[in-house]
Amino acid sequence: MCGIIGINSNKSVSASIINSLKKLEYRGYDSAGIATLHAGSINEVKSEGRVDNLEKNSVVQNMVGTIGIGHVRWATHGLPNSINAHPHSSQNVSVVHNGIIENSTLLKKFLVSKGHKFKSQTDTEVIVHLITENLKTENIINSITKTLKSLHGSFALGIIFKDQPDLIIGARRGSPLAVGYGPNENYLGSDSYALKSMTNKITYLSDGEFCVIKKDHVEFFNEDGIKINKKVLELSSEEEKHDKGDYKHFMAKEIEEQPTTLKNGIKEYVDASNNDINIFNFPWKTNEISSITLIGCGTAYHSCMMAKYWFEELTTLNVNVDIASEFRYRKNRFKKDTLYVFVSQSGETADTYAALSLCKSKEMKTCSVVNVIESSIARDSEFVMPIHCGTEIGVASTKAFLGQILILYILALKLGLLRKDLKRELFNKKLKDLKELPDLVQQTLSIDNKIQTISKTFNDAKGSMFLGRGFSYPIALEGALKLKELSYIHAEGYPAGEMKHGPLALIEEGMPVVVLAPRDDYYKKTISNMQEVIARGAKVLLITNKSKDEIISENIWETIEVETTGADLLPFLLTVPLQKLAYYSALKKGYDIDKPRNLAKSVTVE
Ligand code: AGP
Repeated sequence: MCGIIGINSNKSVSASIINSLKKLEYRGYDSAGIATLHAGSINEVKSEGRVDNLEKNSVVQNMVGTIGIGHVRWATHGLPNSINAHPHSSQNVSVVHNGIIENSTLLKKFLVSKGHKFKSQTDTEVIVHLITENLKTENIINSITKTLKSLHGSFALGIIFKDQPDLIIGARRGSPLAVGYGPNENYLGSDSYALKSMTNKITYLSDGEFCVIKKDHVEFFNEDGIKINKKVLELSSEEEKHDKGDYKHFMAKEIEEQPTTLKNGIKEYVDASNNDINIFNFPWKTNEISSITLIGCGTAYHSCMMAKYWFEELTTLNVNVDIASEFRYRKNRFKKDTLYVFVSQSGETADTYAALSLCKSKEMKTCSVVNVIESSIARDSEFVMPIHCGTEIGVASTKAFLGQILILYILALKLGLLRKDLKRELFNKKLKDLKELPDLVQQTLSIDNKIQTISKTFNDAKGSMFLGRGFSYPIALEGALKLKELSYIHAEGYPAGEMKHGPLALIEEGMPVVVLAPRDDYYKKTISNMQEVIARGAKVLLITNKSKDEIISENIWETIEVETTGADLLPFLLTVPLQKLAYYSALKKGYDIDKPRNLAKSVTVE
């Protein structure tokens, strides 16, 4: 996934492009580049690593030109170096691209046969030479339509031309792209977040469309080059201030923000005065839904897994979960009475968006649980449940995870009550527990020093296991993912009851194993599974909840007791020490906690 920006102005654009690229770094930060048009030539500068490296380049600091494009990259084809960084340019054309061109090898062969010389290993470069080739025989609009029709795969493109000193072309298929409108200047960007500091007037392109951006107006076209009209949206213009405050990293701040973000989410959906849950404008009657399919990627998928247990506990609905990249190609049995729920912090994850598009094409009921309400997934779902967490900057999701599972729990509670699967008094009890949750998370956050010490053992190990049963199993998966993506140590989340069917062979003397065993219905069984790994030399970190009952086991290396609440809400509390474990492990290693290697905040390619 990459980030694109383009600006067509009556003043120099390089500084604004650099500033926008910094906002887009959450989409990829392997390398960055900028190209401007000035005095009939394309000036291009690219650098490896962060946008700061590009900004320090003296050529960029003196770059002139009132038309330009910029790009931050997460490598899909070719090493993350300055040669493969975007823009890619020929004499006449310069292109920035987010997506994957699946027939690039074939196109490259054809273009080389036409004498085109390639400099990079990227798929993107074929677009540059294809446009250049088509411009030999077609005008600008026809060369674009002809080029786009030759491309297989996904793209969001920004294109400038040496011989067209007054326009930028933007084109979209499968990767998000937005147009912004400013005073005597107009913009192109991967999403509204990149454009927000310049404008709140936005038009989103749909798949197959392209646009011609001039300083004073923008024209839109369909894939056949026919002019079309598009809506201009006015987005909320408050520009959130993103700074770390007293924290060393955004992730640390976002972990500590969780009591507040949970309070925000509860306030949005819980009607305290009537002791009820309001899901305004929910478009379906409960008798229209007999099953739910939850779909997401990564942490969002773990949210879906967590929700499965709750929907099964609180309703009689059939519940399925799927990883978006699997769902989109599976031979699914689409049913009209199934509600498809798409969970995504960014709302731009390509696989989740593709799964949503597939369900929409089948005219299914679609609902999304997102943090970014102006995102593609939110815009294209029939119904949206925002999680109200505020921008999450840390690539490793923390507050958004708790926000996602909060909204999913609220949805399960409400549907359980409406379907009469859940009695009102039990609903009231659970709602009361829910309202107390933010304070319990606050208290659990204070478990800090012990985790800092424990994290060293995980750093010294060659791998670890995270075990849980029932409500704790999805949290075991999430805890393992956090450790992997932050400290680059292998960690595996596993159902505690499954260890004896193979993975027990992994256990050796001193291997750290996290066992999530809250005092719920699975407690005793999980403790027995824990003994199985202790007996083989594992160093067990037991995470349970405070209780007057003694822990029924010994030879436990370390124990962490979180606050206590209803069994179905304990996952919120169990998550917190695991987030901190991963954070302190990475801190000790000195890794880049907010931008871990090889990752990006929003994976907008498949
Ligand atoms: C979570 O820590 C990861 N950064 C990643 O797994 C993320 O949850 C996944 O890419 C899905 O992103 P989304 O929620 O924006 O769709």
